[in-house]
Amino acid sequence: MCGIIGYTGPREPVGVVLEALSRLEYRGYDSSGIAFFRDKGEVAVARASGKLSRLVEALEGISGLAGSAIGHIRWATHGAPTEENAHPHRSGPIVLVHNGIIENEKELRLDLEEEGFTFTSETDTEVLAHLVLKAFLESGNLTDAVRKGLEKVEGSYAIAVMCEARPGELVAVRKGAPLVLGEAGGEFFIASDVPAFLKWTRKVMPLPPEVVATISPSGLTLQGSKDGRTVSPRFEEVPWDPVQAEKGAFRHYMEKEIFEGPRAIMDTLEGRLGEDNTRVFLPELVRLGPNPPEIVFVACGTSYHAALLGRRMIESLSPVSVHVEISSEFRYRPLRYRKGAWVIGISQSGETADTLGALDLARREGFLTIGMTNVAGSSITRDTEAVLLTRAGPEIGVASTKAFMAQVTLVWLIALYLGRRESREVKESLSGLVRAPARLEGFLGSFDSDAISLMARKILDSRFVIFIGRGLDYPLAIEGALKLKEITYRPADGYPGGELKHGPIALVEPGVLVIAPLIDPDLRPKELSNIREIEARGGTVLTIGPARASKEFSPSFPLPDCIGWEGVFSASSVLQLLAYHAANLAGTDVDQPRNLAKSVTVE
Ligand code: F6R
Repeated sequence: MCGIIGYTGPREPVGVVLEALSRLEYRGYDSSGIAFFRDKGEVAVARASGKLSRLVEALEGISGLAGSAIGHIRWATHGAPTEENAHPHRSGPIVLVHNGIIENEKELRLDLEEEGFTFTSETDTEVLAHLVLKAFLESGNLTDAVRKGLEKVEGSYAIAVMCEARPGELVAVRKGAPLVLGEAGGEFFIASDVPAFLKWTRKVMPLPPEVVATISPSGLTLQGSKDGRTVSPRFEEVPWDPVQAEKGAFRHYMEKEIFEGPRAIMDTLEGRLGEDNTRVFLPELVRLGPNPPEIVFVACGTSYHAALLGRRMIESLSPVSVHVEISSEFRYRPLRYRKGAWVIGISQSGETADTLGALDLARREGFLTIGMTNVAGSSITRDTEAVLLTRAGPEIGVASTKAFMAQVTLVWLIALYLGRRESREVKESLSGLVRAPARLEGFLGSFDSDAISLMARKILDSRFVIFIGRGLDYPLAIEGALKLKEITYRPADGYPGGELKHGPIALVEPGVLVIAPLIDPDLRPKELSNIREIEARGGTVLTIGPARASKEFSPSFPLPDCIGWEGVFSASSVLQLLAYHAANLAGTDVDQPRNLAKSVTVE
């Protein structure tokens, strides 16, 4: 977690770094800090606990000299989120910011203490500052000092380092944590993620692992951290529009991103359907050879829910059997899948440590691995045999919304790709997918937000909210519950409808609200009988389903009528908006819910 930024160039650096940090706030927001040249040869460090706004207030009216500057936004792992533990950390003239976890921090700290170094924080990062200083005192060269200083460090890191003796110079290196470089006509950026500097440049290069980047007034050089070999920089233009990373007229990123759902679906389909929309092209998979005997999805959180939908879709349209595993559990089990199985990791960020670890294990066990991610150049894209990109654009709100829509689109495409092209099911399903973005756009455009606000109020009045669903509705139910609890902090859980009577139904009594998405046409009669069981026990049930799907019920929140799976998109939007409105009523911080971070780069 944590976000880091580095800048060197002619601009006033404090403004640049603070603005870039505001775009990285989704990665963590326990504390923040900045280092910049106040005077030639004097680096000023400012840090604040709490949200970035506290640092911004503290720096009001303060500017720095053009040259290098670094900044950090923290999600605490080692040490409480206090000002002392906030980055940057300093050792003599060396000042650095770090994202990652140093696993042998304890022994390194003991060694350094024995050598006379004193520590002022509880962080693992301070160890790095001392190690770099030690090496710098020997060589006087910042790049060499970073290479040498990190030699004994185990764990993951992305760091940006500056030195009081060298204004205009910035050194960065990464291993196991993300870092991208941006270039804009002689000025350079280093950041944990592209949106941080998208306002200034779209020329981007992911920094390869264990390559040291040195940016100085004479330009950028890249050097292998172990062997010192020279690496040539290769910048590429990312297609992201800077406006996509802004809030626009919306109150929150989450709200904006929900309304970007149709665009995320459309962009993810772009170029993957033939001219007449009757074929699916996934060249990334063609390269892997014939269809596999089995697919194993590994993912966490919302991405895991998209994988559950993928299983249902793939198993409906093709003979391929599918397993869905939570990455953190998969990592520590023997893998007894069939030879030739594909292991597909789904990760919006492409940086989730557990999913990367799961894919790594699968690869070592001889399975073909595929990374499905929203972030080109992220870690998952570097270590897998094939990469499938969702194209939701930058997702800033911590709760995943439009990226989920894009993931569902892509797993649906995989199902169509694996199915028999000539079959009626595949043809019908494909035409459903083709019309889905426009239909979702129309639905969101005429959205009844009063009805949602009313439901949101009921949610807040309920002690506990239960989400139920069967078939396709089950992943929607657990995704609805996740969204609600992560941004409202209200107790909520999702269950398969058929499982209720094996325990959870004991929770049902007057005053308990149950929310039931009802878009799976095959299981609707069974879902309706689960609803009756709840109502018989005094629970209140809110249903979300197609307006004319069944004579027996009229949904509390009607969706457009649909044949097949398009309802997944409209029902998901309603669940996302429900959580969003409930959070607004509850007054929580929608885009940055407590204790969470957008990329979970720790195990
Ligand atoms: C929920 C949410 C998280 C992520 C999970 C996986 O709204 O955003 O549950 O889905 O942390 O993240 P990625 O997809 O980046 O691997």
